[in-house]
Amino acid sequence: MKLIPVITIDGPSASGKGTVAARVAARLGFHYLDSGALYRLVALAASKLENPGEAQLAALAQALPARFEGDRVFLEDRDVSDELRSESVGEAASRVAALGSVREALLARQHAYCRSPGLVADGRDMGTVVFPAARTKVFLSASPEARAERRYKQLMEKGLSANLTALVSEMRARDERDMHRPVAPLRPAPGALLLDTTALTIDEAVEAVLEHYRNTRL
Ligand code: DC
Repeated sequence: MKLIPVITIDGPSASGKGTVAARVAARLGFHYLDSGALYRLVALAASKLENPGEAQLAALAQALPARFEGDRVFLEDRDVSDELRSESVGEAASRVAALGSVREALLARQHAYCRSPGLVADGRDMGTVVFPAARTKVFLSASPEARAERRYKQLMEKGLSANLTALVSEMRARDERDMHRPVAPLRPAPGALLLDTTALTIDEAVEAVLEHYRNTRL
């Protein structure tokens, strides 16, 4: 059986993972899994339900009626790409992501992305839980201030209003929850390259990941 190369890129929100992972995937011609989008989709679909319990959320995750088309994401037939990126959906995603049965229900869908010629998988537990056998693992980080500033700029560019101080505290609260939950907490996988992007440009971060890939691939 031919081994499919997998690059896992984990890290906290706004660490630059999404941009770096998508660019690395494009450079190598690999598939790209944005696992955070799956948790965001579950949270968005769940917002239509009244007080859903864990079993109901897991069932929703299992049968998630979502489609990815290029850079657009659809929930049933509704284009939810922009709504998905909002802070409130990110916050709700972090809550549903703390439930073990929801994570379990999304596993097969994530594994299905591992196809030839290769995969770049971005999330919190890609290297620890979802693709533990990946040869190339990266943990991206950046100071909370740098991350809040990046998120602030993204929101401004989209014409959305934001408050930098509130963003820093929301980011700390979300990191806290993602790092301290009992199931699949955010932490570097053993052997992962620790890459602090606070003082790096996106291009420099992409090059560092590509170099790590060249050093670790078969
Ligand atoms: O990467 P993101 O901001 O789109 O992720 C949204 C939330 O989903 C994040 O706060 C935690 C959760 N998540 C997770 O628990 N595991 C993943 N692999 C990806 C995201």
